Amino acid sequence: MTKIRIAIQKSGRLNEDSLMILKNCGISIDNGKDQLKASARNFPLEVFYLRNGDIPQYLRDGVVDIAIIGENVLIEKGEDISIAEKLGFSKCKVSLAVPKSVKYTSVHDFEGKKIATSYPNTVQMYLDKHGVKADLHIINGSVEIAPNIGLADAICDIVSSGSTLFKNNLKEVEVMLTSEAVLAVSPKISEERREILKKLQFRIQSVLQARQ
Ligand code: PRP
Ligand code: MG
Repeated sequence: MTKIRIAIQKSGRLNEDSLMILKNCGISIDNGKDQLKASARNFPLEVFYLRNGDIPQYLRDGVVDIAIIGENVLIEKGEDISIAEKLGFSKCKVSLAVPKSVKYTSVHDFEGKKIATSYPNTVQMYLDKHGVKADLHIINGSVEIAPNIGLADAICDIVSSGSTLFKNNLKEVEVMLTSEAVLAVSPKISEERREILKKLQFRIQSVLQARQ
């Protein structure tokens, strides 16, 4: 029997809420979070637990058919991938921040500055839009430490509660985008699997309505 293949975050903030929405859809998954792949018992669905940043490429290649992923990751790495449904959880911002002690007036203050980030495309688009030239320093995690260790003048990263910024003596000065979890669809999904997707979307929509 054909199954639809869904990617969800292996570990991290999206993982639990992603599993929860599937559960609320009445889909029970044989776990093992340690396994990288699991099957649903009562719905034609297979779950692949993957790294966030890898998911856009898997969708593009058609290795998975759909994914629950942060919109911000698609904006950074998967502008060609379509969104079937906004899911209303894991809301966050992608923002620029500077040390608290810095006097900030406008985005032009970033001219010639060094910005540490895991979201180079998003930052570059934002700076280009404002005609600002800055130097991007790409790091994959713990970005907020960069100004404190003299690696950068500023950072761009996800802001959720704001506590990471606060702990690192930084202040948010530009919100580049707001994001939430979405259901993304591979451009290579087959017709047969698209039919399964319709059934899943129908259930997701009922769950989201009930949550309101
Ligand atoms: C994420 C993100 C921010 C932080 C934002 O980091 O990169 O640093 O969460 O959340 P907050 O506003 O609620 O503090 P995460 O803790 O996932 O670790 P990482 O950056 O090292 O991957
Ligand atoms: Mg972080």
